[in-house]
Amino acid sequence: MSPSPTIAVYGLGIIGSRCADLLSEADYTVRTWNRTAKPRDDSFSDPGTTASGAQFLSFYLKDGIALREVFTAIKTQLQPEQIVMNHSTVDLESTEWLASQCAEIGCRFLDAPFTGSREAAAQGALVYYVGGEVSVLDHVRSVLEVSSKEIKHLGPVGSATVVKIGTNLISASTVQALAEALAITKAHGITPETFTDAVASNASGSVLASMKLPAMAAGNYDTHFSMENMLKDSQFALQLASKAGLDTPGIRTTSEAMTEQCKKGNAHLDFSALFKAYSVE
Ligand SMILES: NC(=O)c1ccc[n+]([C@@H]2O[C@H](COP(=O)([O-])OP(=O)(O)OC[C@H]3O[C@@H](n4cnc5c(N)ncnc54)[C@H](OP(=O)(O)O)[C@@H]3O)[C@@H](O)[C@H]2O)c1
Repeated sequence: MSPSPTIAVYGLGIIGSRCADLLSEADYTVRTWNRTAKPRDDSFSDPGTTASGAQFLSFYLKDGIALREVFTAIKTQLQPEQIVMNHSTVDLESTEWLASQCAEIGCRFLDAPFTGSREAAAQGALVYYVGGEVSVLDHVRSVLEVSSKEIKHLGPVGSATVVKIGTNLISASTVQALAEALAITKAHGITPETFTDAVASNASGSVLASMKLPAMAAGNYDTHFSMENMLKDSQFALQLASKAGLDTPGIRTTSEAMTEQCKKGNAHLDFSALFKAYSVE
């Protein structure tokens, strides 16, 4: 029997830690690295050593800054036969930068961010958006299937990054709208339960609304997706809008609201803590 493929997983935050666990449970050989050391048997302190012998490298890092730092640290140790996948939500320039870095080494690269939060990651139910060659995706499909329920190929490198930023614009704006509507209806005597139930039967009802309205009503901001990470995605959306000469006041306002919450010390809470602007502590 040929040995199971080896995956190097970089970034053991909310999502990367869960994906690494799933890969181990699926009998892949997993080598992990995190900036802040984690007590795992498969963890290495040196990011370059982590890549050694791995057929696939998966990045679940915070942003483009983290991605560029980590990739620069390991670049000299990578081999042309390795396949690099970025799952972090980063700015488009960082995706293009990583693609060109991989091309210099001769590594194949996939732009592969995902949708789905903490619980979806734990259950292997993420959805990957993929930009890049279909032939490369075919090589890594079985690896991505371990942590996902769906894989959508969207086009060339960069397309998945742009789509991911677009969908997060919708999620951030939706949660801001939910927070405002919850605050207004509460102030006019409607209980959060009544409002949540009414929204569920409304065309505006969604998985996001059904997750976030009860959490906001209970003041439970246990982190599924952090305020600071959604803030950076809103900034990526504003960058893309600016590059296209578009004015997007909705996401600009929501981005400012998230900046306020981060300044108040709520950066690590779930982004549904946008409701804190309307709740009495
Ligand atoms: N959570 C979600 O629901 C969700 C959904 C879709 C997409 N995403 C995206 O997926 C990525 C990971 O999300 P997450 O929720 O797992 O994030 P997270 O819990 O905040 O973890 C971020 C990871 O990035 C590392 N990191 C941050 N700055 C770094 C740097 N300068 N150098 C090296 N490592 C650095 C962190 O290391 P330390 O432990 O040392 O801080 C940590 O491992 C993000 O891009 C996020 O936007 C998340």
